[in-house]
Amino acid sequence: MESMGGLKRSHTCNDLGAANIGETVTLMGWVLRRRDHGGVIFIDLRDRWGLTQVVFNPEHNAVVHEKAHALRSEWVLAVRGTVSGRPEGMANPNLATGAIEVMVDELRILNVSQTPPFPLDEEVEVSENLRLKYRYLDLRRPGMADNLVLRHKASQAIRSYLNDNGFLEIETPVLTRSTPEGARDYLVPSRVNPGKFYALPQSPQLFKQLLMVAGMDRYYQIVKCFRDEDLRADRQPEFTQVDMELSFIEEEDIFAIMEGMVSHLFKATIGVEPVTPFPRMTYDEAMSRYGSDKPDTRFGLELIDLFEEVKNCGFKVFRDVVEKGGMVKAINAKGCATFSRKDLDDLTNYVAQYGAKGLAWVKIKEDGEWQSPIAKFFTDEERAAMTRRLGAAPGDLLFFGADTPAIVHASLGELRLELGRRLGLIDKKTFSFVWVTDFPLLEYDHEARRHVAVHHPFTAPKEEDLALLATEPGKVRSRAYDLALNGTEIGGGSIRIHQQQAQETIFRALGISEEEARDKFDFLLKALELGAPPHGGIAFGLDRLMMIIAGRDTIRDVIAFPKTQKATCPLTEAPSTVARKQLTELSLRPDWKEA
Ligand code: AMO
Ligand code: AMP
Repeated sequence: MESMGGLKRSHTCNDLGAANIGETVTLMGWVLRRRDHGGVIFIDLRDRWGLTQVVFNPEHNAVVHEKAHALRSEWVLAVRGTVSGRPEGMANPNLATGAIEVMVDELRILNVSQTPPFPLDEEVEVSENLRLKYRYLDLRRPGMADNLVLRHKASQAIRSYLNDNGFLEIETPVLTRSTPEGARDYLVPSRVNPGKFYALPQSPQLFKQLLMVAGMDRYYQIVKCFRDEDLRADRQPEFTQVDMELSFIEEEDIFAIMEGMVSHLFKATIGVEPVTPFPRMTYDEAMSRYGSDKPDTRFGLELIDLFEEVKNCGFKVFRDVVEKGGMVKAINAKGCATFSRKDLDDLTNYVAQYGAKGLAWVKIKEDGEWQSPIAKFFTDEERAAMTRRLGAAPGDLLFFGADTPAIVHASLGELRLELGRRLGLIDKKTFSFVWVTDFPLLEYDHEARRHVAVHHPFTAPKEEDLALLATEPGKVRSRAYDLALNGTEIGGGSIRIHQQQAQETIFRALGISEEEARDKFDFLLKALELGAPPHGGIAFGLDRLMMIIAGRDTIRDVIAFPKTQKATCPLTEAPSTVARKQLTELSLRPDWKEA
């Protein structure tokens, strides 16, 4: 192996073009591909920026050519040579450096490499576990490296926008108290305070509110948050928020500033300028039309309520549901009457995952008649009324859900998304934003047998709904808002309660006793008594934003070192067992067996 020994890189592997022909250059990088063409050896030398073809020609330099025979994939090289135009017909217009190649005069092998566990030069399917175990190789692959570059550009764009708008970037503690986002905490035992624990923050929520009390006025942070929850494609145990809080503002101010930020971000990363202002929809409308509080508004297939049409009908399943206060809704899958029995069975099984007890369907025949196992339960008038309401025409396929609103919305909402995918209705190049507003303040938690905060307990209620707090707490709307993009919740926030008495009223409604509130949040309640300004904020999930911007299906693809669905890291093998001594030092009882 050799050293760089004074050789200095003159260009990256993406720099050279026809203008450089004749220059002597020095490149450094990895062997991506090696081709031996009748004595001449071609190497594609790769670095973060791109690749350049370097040539070892025995007629040009026999000694260096001899040495190049040893080179293999992923070896690390320094080469010095002369830029020359590629011969007639050999230029590659798809490559930034495709007009030239470098005729090598000096080769230094800076490091060798074992054969990589998976090829890096082609788009082959590699198991994700293997990719994560060798993440540093996975990140050498062009698509993955691009994601990190894009993410870097995104953070820079966000910072620059927020800096220009009077925000201060302020760090908040990672070792802290439990915060109220409602997931399970990651705990860290305190060695010097036996039996006591820090919690890793689920978000900087309380600190950013305290920064408003401190008069910072506009705060932001690109910050890691930790939540011990069930993981999915868009959920990691540690993830990144673009977290913000502002003073002396109302909803409209937040919407305008955030639309500015998101537009700036899309422009700076992928050159797309979203249309602002973003559309808005209340929570009730989103649930009613899309069965979801993060509606994918890129396509139709909306849910349509059939209460009026079925309330007196002869189909017992529907009538019973309506009589018990449930709902019947339907989706018109236009032109899908050709679906097979198997398609229908698959979809029935699909919605069963979301609690649906069945999935009634109707195919509209050429003559407009219904073909369906449930057709016989309805009168001609009822069928006609439903056909009309659903805008159904020959060739259409209608799906019905009957159950509690929660189950109908979950199952038909998911069915809608599945149909959108199957029917190719989703345009991947569209970015469809929507603000969802007027969330309920509280929801009933059957397990805890009390109301809990939908967002978090510092969210302000709508003034005009306050009277309902005592009588119908579930009906009180909050001043919370989410931003959904293509069916993903990319951000959420609220106007906060800034007066201590109002905060105590909400704690009471949540069944949090004064004692408990003081125990957990005394510092916040105190701060509210010491001149807290009106304030509110929002946090975006940066990983989710990047997943969408990069056109990926999982946030793991836009995180340098993500964890698996089981919250493990195949690279470092975290989490791991620890020495018994470490546990006793932390005053933890080592009851379980050491590995
Ligand atoms: P919330 O809990 O809605 O609000 O989180 C804000 C945004 O963070 C993203 N997000 C996640 N991304 C990846 N993995 C996860 N496990 C995960 N959990 C959440 C989502 C979400 O919209 N403190 C409040 C914000 C506020 O009120 O200002 C908060 O944390 O995109
Ligand atoms: P049944 O009379 O139970 O055989 O149901 C007739 C049709 O109605 C079948 O296609 C079922 O899938 C469907 N079905 C049953 N229960 C429901 C429900 N709660 N919502 C929607 N469709 C249902």
